[in-house]
Amino acid sequence: MGKKTTIKTLRKMKKHGEKITALTAYDSLFAGFLEESEIDVILVGDSVGMVYAGQETTIPVTIDEIIYHTKAVKRSVKNSLLVADMPFMSYEVNPDETLINAGRILKESGAESVKMEGGKEIADSVTRCVNAGIPVMGHLGLTPQSIHKFGSYKVQGKSKKAGEKLLKDAIVLQKAGCFAIVLEKIPALLAKEISEKLDIPTIGIGAGKHTDGQILVTYDMLGMFEKFKPKFARRYMELATEIKKSIKEYVKDVKDNNFPSKDESF
Ligand code: KIV
Repeated sequence: MGKKTTIKTLRKMKKHGEKITALTAYDSLFAGFLEESEIDVILVGDSVGMVYAGQETTIPVTIDEIIYHTKAVKRSVKNSLLVADMPFMSYEVNPDETLINAGRILKESGAESVKMEGGKEIADSVTRCVNAGIPVMGHLGLTPQSIHKFGSYKVQGKSKKAGEKLLKDAIVLQKAGCFAIVLEKIPALLAKEISEKLDIPTIGIGAGKHTDGQILVTYDMLGMFEKFKPKFARRYMELATEIKKSIKEYVKDVKDNNFPSKDESF
């Protein structure tokens, strides 16, 4: 039986140079696999909108959807730290509204913390939540909810100016009270610099090997999501191929009257 991971555990792991492991889950079954594999952090990401619900971007994801998926995930989670994403427009308006929405997510879903995208513009909202007892994970670099501002899912922080802004934002988020920051799709050396300058852990996705931890979308690393294949998402399986092969076999067996067999009948 493992030990419960808390935001304090993550801080200690950074101090001791122990890498933090994180993956996404949207349902109870997958959350169970992650929990049994002793993953440190489970994120109910708003990637659920694209990967699970087939939407073009993460923008349409609602608070109710995040609550629904987090409730399902929560049923399988004991030791991993459970983080729920705050959807687009649930934390941008003002700190009061952010607190109401974050509070609702924690109360109704069982999440232990929330994640928000953005830098200094969300600092007051972060502090408002943290002061009310809601731990907040930050998210900088390629922040997918801003896709229409970026125009594409390209690497962020490549110029000196953009890199300096990201470092500044990371420091502001730490000061605002974030317990960790996701760094998405930024140059490895910039992620290294940010990770070294911060006391709180960084969790990278497409940010090289020097961050304090790594996160991937589970459906990417299992080779289930085929729409696009990010360069940074190492595939540990080609599950989509296997699943389709099995379904084809089933279809053939039914058509050929090879299923069910005598042993599978009563
Ligand atoms: O929504 C998500 O799954 C995320 C991770 C990719 C960090 O934000």
